[in-house]
Amino acid sequence: MTRRTQQALREAPLIPLEDLPRYSPWPARLLGLSAWRKPVKSEAELYREYEEETFAPYLERARSHYAHSLYREWFAAQTAGTGPSPCHTECGLRLLTPGQQLEVFIDAVQDALAPHLPAPALCDLGAGTGKILYCLAQRGVTRQTPLLAFEFSPSARELIRHFSRNQGLDMQVHACNFLEPRITEAAIPRDAVLFTSFALACVPRDATDFLRALAAFRPRVVAHFEPCADFFKPDNLQHMMCRRYVEINGYNADIHIAARELEAEGVLRVLATRPNVFGGNPLLPFSTVVWTPA
Ligand SMILES: C[S@@+](CC[C@H](N)C(=O)[O-])C[C@H]1O[C@@H](n2cnc3c(N)ncnc32)[C@H](O)[C@@H]1O
Repeated sequence: MTRRTQQALREAPLIPLEDLPRYSPWPARLLGLSAWRKPVKSEAELYREYEEETFAPYLERARSHYAHSLYREWFAAQTAGTGPSPCHTECGLRLLTPGQQLEVFIDAVQDALAPHLPAPALCDLGAGTGKILYCLAQRGVTRQTPLLAFEFSPSARELIRHFSRNQGLDMQVHACNFLEPRITEAAIPRDAVLFTSFALACVPRDATDFLRALAAFRPRVVAHFEPCADFFKPDNLQHMMCRRYVEINGYNADIHIAARELEAEGVLRVLATRPNVFGGNPLLPFSTVVWTPA
C-alpha cells in the first residue's frame, strides 16, 4: 500500500459499528427487522443484473457524454455527488470518499500482482468496467505486459474497448462465462498472471472446480480479490455480520477453502493470503489469495 494511502486511511474518520444503520439498510435486514429475499443467481438473472441493469446503461452514458474521456474522468463524474461512506479497512470501519476507495483498492491489487510482472499476459477475468487494468497501466505497473480483459456482459466488453481506446491502451477484450467448464474460447498464454476481483463471488460455480479450470491454463500465478467466508472470525460481531451478508445474498465466498483443499491434493500451492483487506461495502470485504499451479 502506498504511503499516501496509508496516511489517508489513518486520517479518515473511524465509525463505530453501532452507527452502521445510519448509512446502510443491511444491519436491519440481517437482523430480520426489514424484508429481504435471497436473489436467484441463474445465468439469466446474471445477464439481467449485469448486462441489462448495469453495463448497458453505463455504455450508453459513456458513449453519449464521455466519448473521449479516460476511465478516471468518468469515475470522478459518476461519483461527484457521492460523499464519504463507511468502508471495511485493515484499520477499522473508516469513512472514505469514492476516490479514496478506488486508491485503497488498486493499491491492494498492485501489492499482490506487481511482484509477478512483467509476464506474457495480465488477464482480468470478469473485468467489469476494466478499471483495475486501466489504473495499473496508469501507474506504470503493467509496462511490457499485454493486457487481456475477459467479461460476461457484451456491453461491459464494449465499455472496456471504449475506455482502453481513450487511454491509448492496446487491450484485448474477450467473452467469458464462469458457468461454462472452459471459461473462455479465447487463448490465454502459458505463464500468464490471472486475477479475479469480486467476480467469482457473483457466480454460483463450485470454487474447487473453477480453480481446477484456471490451473489448466498453466498460469504463472493466479490472484483472487474476493470475499472469503473462512476469514470471518466467529467471535467478531462485524465479521459475523459479513458472514450472514454473504449467505443471504448468495455470494460465493469459498475460494480460500477451495485453494487449501486443492493444495492438500497437490494441484496448486498457495503463495500468499491477506484476509479482509478492504470493502467499499463494509459487509463485503475482499481477501487476497494468490496461488500457483503445483
Ligand atoms: C461485481 S462485478 C466486478 C467487476 C470487476 N471485477 C471489479 O472488480 O470491478 C462482477 C462481474 O462479474 C461478471 N459476471 C457476471 N456473471 C458472470 C459469469 N457467468 N461469468 C463471468 N463473469 C460474470 C459481471 O458482468 C461483472 O463484471
